[in-house]
Amino acid sequence: MSRNFIHIRDLGPEGARRILARAGEMKAGRYRGRLLEGRTIVMIFEKSSTRTRLSFDVAIRQMGGQLIFMTPAESQLGRSEPLRDTARVISRYCDGMVVRTFGEERLAELVQYGSVPVVNALTDEGHPCQVLGDLFTIYERTPDFSGLRVAWVGDSNNVACSWMEAASVFPFELRLASPSGYTPDKERLDFYIRAGARISVSSDPRLAVAGAHYVNTDVWASMGQERERQEREQAFKGFCVSAELMALAAPGAKFMHCLPAHRGEEVTDEVMEGESSIIFDQAENRLHVQKAILEWVFSE
Ligand code: CP
Ligand code: NVA
Repeated sequence: MSRNFIHIRDLGPEGARRILARAGEMKAGRYRGRLLEGRTIVMIFEKSSTRTRLSFDVAIRQMGGQLIFMTPAESQLGRSEPLRDTARVISRYCDGMVVRTFGEERLAELVQYGSVPVVNALTDEGHPCQVLGDLFTIYERTPDFSGLRVAWVGDSNNVACSWMEAASVFPFELRLASPSGYTPDKERLDFYIRAGARISVSSDPRLAVAGAHYVNTDVWASMGQERERQEREQAFKGFCVSAELMALAAPGAKFMHCLPAHRGEEVTDEVMEGESSIIFDQAENRLHVQKAILEWVFSE
């Protein structure tokens, strides 16, 4: 039996809450388990990474496992060996895969043809490990999500999609502001709203940020969109999270960014370095939450 972690909803509402609680215990040092002892995990990264790569690497080692890091450039993936073949080969050697890739259908192919668990380390459509880490960062400060308002300012990208998904699992209100042409896909938005998410969408960052307890943003051009960079710089003018914008948020509001950030584009240096910024807590929490995710995946 293999258990995959592709979406936050895979955990179910109870499971998602349990991940946050377990991450808290792990962060407090109350975890000494060696669940991955004797297991080898391959990390297949088709895009660059600092945080995700390092935090999974450290998590796997701390849990007693071994890991192999693989990119297309140094494997036959870069020479067009089909994923379905790669998945079956990996399943003969390894006990799990942590995968960062482009379209989510690539993860689906690995799940379909492989016989070991697959963990989503970012696709074009989502970044569930990041957003679970961010939810834990919120939970540490304000464990009751029900009265919380979270703002998202910028592109309706992979991280934003996982935030929309999170709003269907945890009872906070999500207010997105994106320029026209960069708003969330309607079908996806409707799917999460039908699943119970409270999400509103506008093209006014001030509307999204007014009264928010947490203000989130991300780069204007994600990995794979480098060629659109100039066009996006034009479209996203006015979507920079500045101290003036943060002043509209609730008293004591926190600024969040998954990183890496482009200072002077989606956020000012002043906000990045300011008192409201919790960006490095977010980065740290990737480690604790991913250990809890690995435990969920491998204790089945
Ligand atoms: N936030 C995040 O996933 O960062 P990396 O791209 O460095 O892994
Ligand atoms: N949206 C960004 C997130 C990076 C962690 C990207 O996909 O490049």
